[in-house]
Amino acid sequence: MQILIGVVALLIIGVALLWVLVPALYGLPPVSTSRERIRRALELANPQAGETMYDLGCGHGRVLVMAAKEFGLNAVGIEAGPVQCAVSWMNALRNGVSSKVRIEARDFYKSNLRGADIVFAYLTSDHGDRLQEKLKRELQPGVRVVTVSFGLPGWDAATFDREQLIYLYKL
Ligand SMILES: C[S@@+](CC[C@H](N)C(=O)[O-])C[C@H]1O[C@@H](n2cnc3c(N)ncnc32)[C@H](O)[C@@H]1O
Repeated sequence: MQILIGVVALLIIGVALLWVLVPALYGLPPVSTSRERIRRALELANPQAGETMYDLGCGHGRVLVMAAKEFGLNAVGIEAGPVQCAVSWMNALRNGVSSKVRIEARDFYKSNLRGADIVFAYLTSDHGDRLQEKLKRELQPGVRVVTVSFGLPGWDAATFDREQLIYLYKL
């Protein structure tokens, strides 16, 4: 019995460490955007049902679920943290949108974003330069990019929500 308790405790500690450490290695806390802010960001992007949205660093999948459930989008989450990926997947399942949600467990800088109609990113300004180069290389004309709490250097925002710190860019 004591061995079983020890194994379960070790498992819990391992999962908790992975949950915090992987995002930290990528320089970000595993913190979700508020629902109100996500809704506002998605509305700014003028989503059309059936379009595809990518969330760069999807965390616990809150953006994916709202995009699929409220806006009828196909949602792709790219996330480095294995615990976050598992939680995102369960979140999509629990909300009945798993058929519209795909999760890629990897570094989004190594992923191809060519299928996106909308790109969502809640990151920090440290990502600005590297990310804007990738977006410029891979995104097609007409794609909308919404960034929360950071802007893309050298890009002119089509809309800027000062209160919520949300930028909308149109390619
Ligand atoms: C601030 S959270 C945002 C979560 C979610 N997008 C939201 O708005 O609720 C950032 C997430 O990005 C992930 N992340 C950071 N850099 C990444 C990278 N290069 N590739 C994949 N995931 C990354 C972190 O693990 C973390 O879960």
